[in-house]
Amino acid sequence: MSTSTLPKLHDTAKDFMPINGTDYLELYVSNSKQAAHFYKTAFGFQSLAYAGLETGLKDRESYVVVQDKIRLVLTSPLKSGTDIGRHIDQHGDGVKVVALWVDDATYAYNTAMERGAKSYMEPKVEEDKTGKIVRSGIYTYGETVHIFVERKDYNGTFMPGFRKWETPDYNPSPVGLKFVDHMVGNVGWNRMNEWVNFYENVMGFTQILSFDDKDISTDFTALMSKVMSNGNGRIKFPINEPAEGKKKSQVEEYLDFYEGEGVQHIAVATDDVIATVRQLKSRGVEFLKVPDTYYDAVLDRVGEIDEDIAPLKELGILVDRDDEGYLLQIFTRPVEPRPTMFFEIIQRKGAQSFGKGNFKALFEAIEREQELRGTLH
Ligand code: FE2
Repeated sequence: MSTSTLPKLHDTAKDFMPINGTDYLELYVSNSKQAAHFYKTAFGFQSLAYAGLETGLKDRESYVVVQDKIRLVLTSPLKSGTDIGRHIDQHGDGVKVVALWVDDATYAYNTAMERGAKSYMEPKVEEDKTGKIVRSGIYTYGETVHIFVERKDYNGTFMPGFRKWETPDYNPSPVGLKFVDHMVGNVGWNRMNEWVNFYENVMGFTQILSFDDKDISTDFTALMSKVMSNGNGRIKFPINEPAEGKKKSQVEEYLDFYEGEGVQHIAVATDDVIATVRQLKSRGVEFLKVPDTYYDAVLDRVGEIDEDIAPLKELGILVDRDDEGYLLQIFTRPVEPRPTMFFEIIQRKGAQSFGKGNFKALFEAIEREQELRGTLH
């Protein structure tokens, strides 16, 4: 399939798995309290909800932070020997749950199960005085799971079991992050098509783009990627697998350090990437750096854009164009000790693609970081 044109998304009337959007992302982390502070301070998230000892939980604690449509649940165990603790021991901090907002979580679960999904959680009704939520869950790649969330009968802060988390003394301002644009999974050698088939057959997604190792390679490293989208296009999951290169690719490095398949990056959308990135940088978020020479030829490649080049160059923001418009994007360094998960900040100005024109410059920047970590060999 050509990578420059996007096919029309399939007819949503025939969509057997309607999804309204991303409901929340749950990260298992070693210190939820400090992680919540980090996402507030550095990324501009706001305090939303809490569950833990004070709400009657004995084994774990979760802080929920929010920015526009993005909700992060940060969960840590309160004792040894838990499944959460084992997950963190194996993978380090990372995404456990990609929760999908649906109208009917029982239907979504039954449909996925009939189509060959592996169960994580049977449909379960959770209630409090503000209403009820139904959740169900299935496994995807690695130990990552999708939880279907039905919240049409719920009016509370987040979910039953959580109370409002109020922090009157410390509420750093948001930085303009709006919603999850896409979320990328790294899977093992020769496993990409297996997961493409899973999203097609079990979840009703379609493949909208494909990149082979010729598209995504430098002199040293390579990977392959296919992008899966649900019917209304609100959920986009690129799936990467490593490809043979002279040296170890970033996907292999991820798989080694995550000790399995998992979420590689969370791309979050902004309406003003320059203002957002300026804020993030001033708050200590670290970004990958492409060489200044990237900007010498960028306008020849992408044509006219609304933004001045100077602030893009100063902040290290990348630009790419496809048939429908252009996009501005930048990638953080990993946000935990292991070189695993990171964030992308993206502003779309028409373009619906993923920055193919930036892959080479970007992967060379990643290789320079791998070199420093001693993992490029
Ligand atoms: Fe991305």
